[in-house]
Amino acid sequence: MARFGILTSGGDCPGLNAVIRGIVLQGTTVHDHEYVGFKDGFHGLVYGDVMELDRSVVRGISQQGGTILGTSRFGPYTEPDGGGENIKKVLARLEIDAVIAIGGDGTMAASNRLLEDGIPLVGVPKTIDNDLLATDYTFGFNTAVEIATEAVDRLRTTGNSHKRCMVLEVMGRDAGWIAIYAGVAAGAHAILIPEQPESLEQICEWVTSVRDRGRSPMVVVAEGFKLPHMDDAHSHKGVDGFNRPRLGGIADVLAPLIEEHTGIETRSTTLGYIQRGGVPSAWDRVLGTRFGQAASDLVADGVWGKMVALRGTDIVHVPLADAVGHTKTVPLDYYNGARAIFG
Ligand code: F6P
Repeated sequence: MARFGILTSGGDCPGLNAVIRGIVLQGTTVHDHEYVGFKDGFHGLVYGDVMELDRSVVRGISQQGGTILGTSRFGPYTEPDGGGENIKKVLARLEIDAVIAIGGDGTMAASNRLLEDGIPLVGVPKTIDNDLLATDYTFGFNTAVEIATEAVDRLRTTGNSHKRCMVLEVMGRDAGWIAIYAGVAAGAHAILIPEQPESLEQICEWVTSVRDRGRSPMVVVAEGFKLPHMDDAHSHKGVDGFNRPRLGGIADVLAPLIEEHTGIETRSTTLGYIQRGGVPSAWDRVLGTRFGQAASDLVADGVWGKMVALRGTDIVHVPLADAVGHTKTVPLDYYNGARAIFG
């Protein structure tokens, strides 16, 4: 009987468990597969740390946030125990025929390298940031937008009571999808995203015009936003496991600047990991389940080096290489459409 290993790698994301369940149910019901899960991302693959995944283990997990397998930003080539040849031996020892890797850009890049080293593998895209070009949407994004939208709604009521300007920071390292969706949904007065620098003067002009008509200004900013003089996104927390600067804190930078330049009392809130935790939306559960079923079909057909993706309403597959290093940013037209009614 064919036996496959599943791993979740990188930042967690609502909907991961729906993917795992989709793979296992499709695989055991339709294809007569067996599955194991590698624990804590590539760490479990490198060290052969697995858990059996049968139907009873995935029962009722679609509605759970996080990942039952655990995740990490551990790279398959970072330690001497890793690398293609070592991992082949682990797979042979555990009698695992191929790997399904669920992750974002960093995971797909590592998976592509493993593929080039001869490891049979398929990918499933994941990120709340929705910034992978090879797919129209990633699961987790919809849930994050709902959470961020509710946060803006809540901040607006307290901002209105105190006549304050409120600045909400949401995630979005290279792309401002969460910011633009949540900001538009909740009627923010300015939305600041990594793709489009805006000057402090412009931001303050929007804030002031809101105050001048008796309203409390609401600014949504993505963590990767840069003021024109900034070379890099604001980071003061060192680097992550993939050696990328850990972002977060731009709202705390902006709020005092806005207050100083406008005279309007301003408060900042960083939403942080609340966007990644908790119950996935129905939309993310459905997309995750469909991705999982499609990944099971791919391994059943022995089609290696592909990633499942959403195109319109169809689940398709694309070469893993196409998924690597191509960021789906918010198009300028899209941003300008929202920007036309800022202030
Ligand atoms: O890629 C998803 C994401 O949530 C980014 O928006 C954020 O910069 C990053 O992960 C934070 O990840 P970590 O879990 O390493 O702090």
